[in-house]
Amino acid sequence: MDFEKQIKRHIHAQQHSFFMITPVGFENIGKEELSKLNIESNVEVGGVEFIGKLEDFYKATLYSRVATRFLMRVKSFKSDSLGPFFKNILSIKWEYYLKNDSTVFFHVTSRGSKLYHQRMLEEKFRDALSEYSNLNSMNLNFETQDSEFEIKNGVTIYLRLEDDRATISIDLSGAPNFKRGYRKFISDAPIRENLASGLLLNFWKNREKPFLDLMCGSGTFTLEAISILKNIPAGGARDFSFMNLSHYKEAMFKHTLKKSDEDIIELKNREFFFSDIVEKHVIGSRRNLVALGEKSIKSAVLDFFEFKPNFKERGFLVLNPPYGKRIQEEPVFYKELYKKLSLDFKGWELLLLLPEAERIKTNFQNKNRVVFENGGIPIQAVSGIIE
Ligand SMILES: C[S@@+](CC[C@H](N)C(=O)[O-])C[C@H]1O[C@@H](n2cnc3c(N)ncnc32)[C@H](O)[C@@H]1O
Repeated sequence: MDFEKQIKRHIHAQQHSFFMITPVGFENIGKEELSKLNIESNVEVGGVEFIGKLEDFYKATLYSRVATRFLMRVKSFKSDSLGPFFKNILSIKWEYYLKNDSTVFFHVTSRGSKLYHQRMLEEKFRDALSEYSNLNSMNLNFETQDSEFEIKNGVTIYLRLEDDRATISIDLSGAPNFKRGYRKFISDAPIRENLASGLLLNFWKNREKPFLDLMCGSGTFTLEAISILKNIPAGGARDFSFMNLSHYKEAMFKHTLKKSDEDIIELKNREFFFSDIVEKHVIGSRRNLVALGEKSIKSAVLDFFEFKPNFKERGFLVLNPPYGKRIQEEPVFYKELYKKLSLDFKGWELLLLLPEAERIKTNFQNKNRVVFENGGIPIQAVSGIIE
């Protein structure tokens, strides 16, 4: 049977197990996103597992706003000694995944297993794959640096050992999924796009009311909010690692992409406003919005403490103040912030990001709280209606 037919039969016609990595605490939002695409899934810590065909994955990677990365599971086997480990790697039909000239990177973790030495496991994996490559006239290259998305035909193989069970997966994303391709300007301490979207999907309920992002930085919350309203696919403006794999169904993916473009709708809610005290942040955010196709969103350079809302109705306010040393040393900032909120924003729905240790001192109706990490910094997001 020729190779194309083998790929069709063994990969395209089959269901596979995929794992969508999400930030911890956002797994259920990931599950809801998949369920809207008619994909059933199981929540695990740090992600969501689902079974489907490649076209299901193509939809998931295009539409999921909360995903950090997608993996395709290749093989799972008991593994407590090196001999069988080596043989199991040789038994995989690597040409169904890797192209002849692929550059391979490894991502190895081991927990609670006899095979625990990660560097040694990586070396063994590389040896086995090298042998496979020689036996099957492939020309695989190997790299140790973790930058596969900058290298042509780069692919990362994930090996996870847990309680003597090895799971081998192929990374389908390359650059993490929160890189959308339209946020060109980045201010200090930006929030990751998938976290911003996850928080909005969770807490932003009245989406037809005014939306204010008054410490906008690079405008991430406004960008994600508009994308949610317009149905702009999160992964429609970038390349992914799965495009480097031998089973990539280009025509199918392009068809899914075209359909997702056709599903984009006009922005009906024009009551968006973003601002920041730093001029270059506002200019950069405007540029990012233009890259998304939105030229007419109102914005201004201004101090939040000087702003008085003047809208027909109360809406949704996002505040992502600077966190870190400077602010921790200035508790007066938060005191002023709470005062300003209850003075001028009573009845507004608030999404406020704070350092995890900060005890919020303003009154809320329907208060919700979620704790997560953004770039290694523990943060809490609190939401509710300001009293
Ligand atoms: C953590 S950053 C926001 C990051 C943003 N969410 C993003 O993803 O890029 C905090 C922002 O608050 C702005 N800021 C600080 N004090 C402010 C004030 N009094 N009024 C308005 N903006 C302020 C800073 O200039 C900075 O852009």
